[in-house]
Amino acid sequence: MGKISREKFKVHEGVFDEFTLRTLEMMKRKHYFDELGKPIKTGKEGDVYFGYRGDKTLAIKIYRMTSANFKKISQYIVRDYRFRNIKGSLRKVILVWAEKEFRNVALCHKHNISVPYMYKQFNNVIIMDYIFGKMLKDYDLENPKEFFELLIEQLKLVRHEAKLIHGDLSEFNIMVENELPVLIDWGQGMSVKNEADFMELKPMQERDIHNIVFYMNKRYGLELDYNEVFERIENNN
Ligand SMILES: Nc1ncnc2c1ncn2[C@@H]1O[C@H](COP(=O)(O)OP(=O)(O)O)[C@@H](O)[C@H]1O
Ligand SMILES: [Mg+2]
Repeated sequence: MGKISREKFKVHEGVFDEFTLRTLEMMKRKHYFDELGKPIKTGKEGDVYFGYRGDKTLAIKIYRMTSANFKKISQYIVRDYRFRNIKGSLRKVILVWAEKEFRNVALCHKHNISVPYMYKQFNNVIIMDYIFGKMLKDYDLENPKEFFELLIEQLKLVRHEAKLIHGDLSEFNIMVENELPVLIDWGQGMSVKNEADFMELKPMQERDIHNIVFYMNKRYGLELDYNEVFERIENNN
């Protein structure tokens, strides 16, 4: 390990474990970022930090290698056919979880879904573009109806083009940038290969849609009908 780069992360020592420090050093050496900044948000499974590369602002998501939510995380992994054969240690599961988030977002990006561009995932670290916006929960929408229509268009693409279910959709995981929705936090996103998969995963989709309908109705008095919204997304119309 380069002594110089280790020196740079000194301020974070005690925050990151050795494995994470080494991962960050490696990514910095490969110029995925120049500088790690302050935390944007600290969470249960990991933290998101500011990052910088040249004049670009990045968001660096770092999954904690000692997660208390191992059980919950494992569940989402074994139920996704892409990762069905992953068994083993907590470490391995966390790394697969980060890979899963990266792959879900890459797939969304390929289908022109509004997600933060992700440059690289290595081990438990993901480097993406920083969204200059706010979480939906902290944002006062000027035109909530219009925003909701844009969100539905995004969710149709997710369901029918990327063939994914987000699985943790809420006003916390939707960001608003210039009145446009950006969908974040894709670790638990599930791939829907066929209709049999969908039947199994349907409760996740129902919960996602329920969360946003409930929020928009409560906060903005939209009087959206849950069943109607669900069917619109399902029937792609
Ligand atoms: N690309 C990003 N740009 C700006 N802020 C972000 C970005 N990604 C995450 N955040 C912020 O960090 C918070 C946590 O990120 P998230 O991916 O939702 O992880 P988790 O909820 O699992 O901790 C988000 O609610 C948001 O405020
Ligand atoms: Mg989140």
